[in-house]
Amino acid sequence: IRTRVAIVGAGPAGLILSQLLADAGVESVIVDSRSRVEIESTIRAGILEQNTVDLLRAIDPATRVDTVGHRHDGIELRFDGEGHRIDFPSLVGRSVWLYPQHEVLKDLLALRLGAGQDLRFGVTIDGVDDGDPTHPAVVGTDAHGEALRLEADFVVGADGSRSVVRAAVTGSRSGGYFREYPFAWFGILCEAPPSAQELIYSNSENGFALISQRSPEVQRMYFQCDPTTDAAAPSDAEIWDALQSRVPGTTLAEGPIIQRDVLRFRSFVAHELRRGRVALVGDAAHTVPPTGAKGMNLAIADVVLLAEALRSLLTESNERLIDSYAERALDRIWKAQHFSWWMTSMLHVAPDASDFDRRRQLGELRTVVSSEAGRAYLAEAYTGWPLH
Ligand code: DHB
Repeated sequence: IRTRVAIVGAGPAGLILSQLLADAGVESVIVDSRSRVEIESTIRAGILEQNTVDLLRAIDPATRVDTVGHRHDGIELRFDGEGHRIDFPSLVGRSVWLYPQHEVLKDLLALRLGAGQDLRFGVTIDGVDDGDPTHPAVVGTDAHGEALRLEADFVVGADGSRSVVRAAVTGSRSGGYFREYPFAWFGILCEAPPSAQELIYSNSENGFALISQRSPEVQRMYFQCDPTTDAAAPSDAEIWDALQSRVPGTTLAEGPIIQRDVLRFRSFVAHELRRGRVALVGDAAHTVPPTGAKGMNLAIADVVLLAEALRSLLTESNERLIDSYAERALDRIWKAQHFSWWMTSMLHVAPDASDFDRRRQLGELRTVVSSEAGRAYLAEAYTGWPLH
């Protein structure tokens, strides 16, 4: 098969890229190893930046972000037994939306498939053949077990943290800057009414917890755990005890736990984001720890830059924007890396933290909430720096 842009990965990044390219008259084919049902049902992130919402509204008249999603004008930082609200509109004039990633994906799949996008599920991708540098090809096996060769003018790896396209850009499956963290999140979905109207990020003696929501009937909550924790091990009662002890001051509304998972923490930025006519976006290019909810938003910000660069390259033979793609994307990526690391280290209790570390951390949290400049930095980063 021949196409102009071969996109590996039908997540938010790949789907939005195909839409922006189509708007510019550039045709693409998307392949993904998963099925549509799997893509639409996997529980992932929940928070969209103002920029992301503006973009979804602009590209998709049928987006449900305003009907199924909810605008949030602030978050609460809780520490030392007290809550401190960070009010986004008054600090930076922006908000965020709680709208789960799998709902975003349902909207985007309907949008692209409705427009006739060539999108193939269940494709096993072996890698990129860049033998002809002006016509790289994605090679793999389709859902029927037939060999697939997708020749393109450009290949985009939007295939997540275990990217197979990455090797064609960095020379290895892993090459990048990274750090690990001595904790993980135990996440649950439960059938219960909301315990709070906005998100609570809580730093407690017993470690971190995040109280988030999904809908009036279903809630999402996380608590800090050891990275080796087996998600199946604790009883529901033990999970509620762990959560409850980490948000002193709030009595959580409990209910049946319908899903549980352990999320590993990692910070990662690939050494290169583009080589020749292959580029990386989203988790293929970088991973952030979840605190602060930057992952999906950062992926979409990459795509906005790359779509413009590809339009310019493929419709005007202008290489200027593709040549500066990595540098421009990295400017935001490292800011988001810093923010995600900062929120993570400020809110979690490291297993080896000394009494000094603990008191310093509370001093840091007080510095942020007691100063308008501190609250404004948090609000600016959380709601998202403007695109461009
Ligand atoms: C959610 C996840 C996050 O990492 C975060 O910072 C806020 C919310 C969520 O899944 O709801």
